[in-house]
Amino acid sequence: MQKTLRNELFNQAKEWVLEAGEKIREKINQPMVIDTKSNPHDLVTETDKLTEEFFANRIKEKFPNHLLLGEEGYGDEVTSLDGTVWIIDPIDGTMNFVHLKKDFAISVGIYHNGIGEIGLIYDVMANVLYSACKGEGAFKNGKRLEPLSDTVKLEESIFAFNHNLLCTSEQFDRDITENFLRNIRSARLVGAAAIDIANVAEGLINGFISKGLSPWDIAAGMVILDEVGGVTTRNDGNVVNMLEKGTIIACNEVIHNRVVKHLKNWI
Ligand code: 2AM
Ligand code: CA
Repeated sequence: MQKTLRNELFNQAKEWVLEAGEKIREKINQPMVIDTKSNPHDLVTETDKLTEEFFANRIKEKFPNHLLLGEEGYGDEVTSLDGTVWIIDPIDGTMNFVHLKKDFAISVGIYHNGIGEIGLIYDVMANVLYSACKGEGAFKNGKRLEPLSDTVKLEESIFAFNHNLLCTSEQFDRDITENFLRNIRSARLVGAAAIDIANVAEGLINGFISKGLSPWDIAAGMVILDEVGGVTTRNDGNVVNMLEKGTIIACNEVIHNRVVKHLKNWI
């Protein structure tokens, strides 16, 4: 994508993200309408839906040729990444939104012919915006993020880790997971994939691993992480098909091979 076009798109997307975040903050203490989706722990609120609708309406109006792949169904039936596709999670970390009223994000990735061009992760309550345009570096509230450490060791690494990996997976997988946990320094989890990946990009933690993530959970994070030299793959090291759900390793490149060695046999 042409740089001027990308910058124009970035500015527009950023404006909408900040506007949507402001709307969410204004209503954070009002009673929430909460529903469940795939299981009793998979929450969705009226705010998730209204926020996605906000983006859908604005994208359709201003960029009628663009497509929207969104979590809550206000977007398009996206079957290919040809053209320009906005991949949006209106609220990533809905459980945090409901229970903690913080540590959730608006995640917007913009892909052009399959290439991640723009990534925006807005930690709404902290008012922190992580952003990146392909080839131009990654930023936190406008301040450039440093390239990731090239000396970090797996044994000294902190990984964000979805607790479902230990609670609901099969014994075979749990053995692999426990062995991995014994080989790193510790595990942490914010509980919003986009923020967890942003924390990897900032170098605060060294990796993030989760099963069953959808494109909107990772689209923005992948663009941002790539800009500081991090990598995002499936657990067997394969490239991520942005139209499929799956397991994600997002980490510092220096330790990536060893992480894949540990986790490649996960079912
Ligand atoms: P969400 O809040 O948009 O659903 C921790 O649960 C992280 O995993 C969140 O980023 C959450 O995104 C994501 N996730 C993806 N699929 C999920 C599911 N079925 N249940 C709970 N969290 C899910
Ligand atoms: Ca969501």
